[in-house]
Amino acid sequence: MPVISVPEDFHMEDLYVDLRSVLDAPLYLKCEGFNFAGSIKLKAASEMIADAERQGRLTRDSIIVESSSGNLGVALSMIAASRGYTFVCVTDTRCNLNTRRLMEAMGAQVHTITEPDPETGFLGARLDYVRQLCASDSRHLWLNQYANPCNWQAHYRSTAPAIAERFPDLDVLFVGAGTTGTLMGCARYFKDSGRPVTVVAVDSVGSVTFGGPPSPRMIPGLGSGVRPPLLDVSFVDDVVHVPETATIRVAHQLAAAGFLFGGSTGTVISGALGWLAEHRDGKSCTAVAISPDLGERYLDSLYQSNWVSDIYGSQALEAGPVWAH
Ligand SMILES: Cc1ncc(COP(=O)(O)O)c(C=O)c1O
Repeated sequence: MPVISVPEDFHMEDLYVDLRSVLDAPLYLKCEGFNFAGSIKLKAASEMIADAERQGRLTRDSIIVESSSGNLGVALSMIAASRGYTFVCVTDTRCNLNTRRLMEAMGAQVHTITEPDPETGFLGARLDYVRQLCASDSRHLWLNQYANPCNWQAHYRSTAPAIAERFPDLDVLFVGAGTTGTLMGCARYFKDSGRPVTVVAVDSVGSVTFGGPPSPRMIPGLGSGVRPPLLDVSFVDDVVHVPETATIRVAHQLAAAGFLFGGSTGTVISGALGWLAEHRDGKSCTAVAISPDLGERYLDSLYQSNWVSDIYGSQALEAGPVWAH
């Protein structure tokens, strides 16, 4: 049993759910939500902060600033509180209230963007605001999760080797794409290791990350209105796009079995089931999907039936296919 002195020192790296029991699916779900920040973003946050400290870019006078739809903001709030830094999180109206309260409870300042940029969406508007802050006061340090190589390196050093060790016969890995830090860290690791693992990116319908027209998306974490600078598609073997209605159905199905996961977990599982049905129909293979966080932060959205029916229509929760076609 670990004994820790600072919150960032604990992360459960070796927990998987066998989804045969819940969805009758040959898929292992790697759970990344069990740490004090509640999500996989603790890894990127820790790596970026440690790097900025090592390089002397982060000092007592610095004001850390970051654009986040929530989870990175919570992780940075936690580390900033633990190490005595000031942190400003720039988010938008899709960030749920509890997530904002979590950040504020740990001493962060939260700035919420209410109007999307007509071309680059909420993300573009958030980044514009971060740039304005940095231009207005040189104490601001933008870690820039979208372009900072520490984001993917965190997963190259921890997430991917942990999966490789636990599943030596891994065939397929499904990774959701937000900043693509998790995706690029895992994809680069398995390409460099020379193991024949197929790495499949899972994105939301309406995200422009892998091309395709932008459209509104309401589930935070996955997808992007701007192509992520970290993405190098030459490392990615395949891509699936999942509509948010499929995300919701999977998340609710898991919750009905007592596994309350976040929305992006529903997206990744839905994408994985669709891909496995299409490419490995009937053939056995070892497949892992990564779950970025748990469901408590989404009780007022994803798990609220009025919110779901207002946005997706009253049929959204009726039985239907749980995977994307
Ligand atoms: C809930 C959730 N899902 C998925 C992701 C995607 O991770 P990444 O930014 O590494 O692509 C994130 C990261 O913010 C997240 O918070």
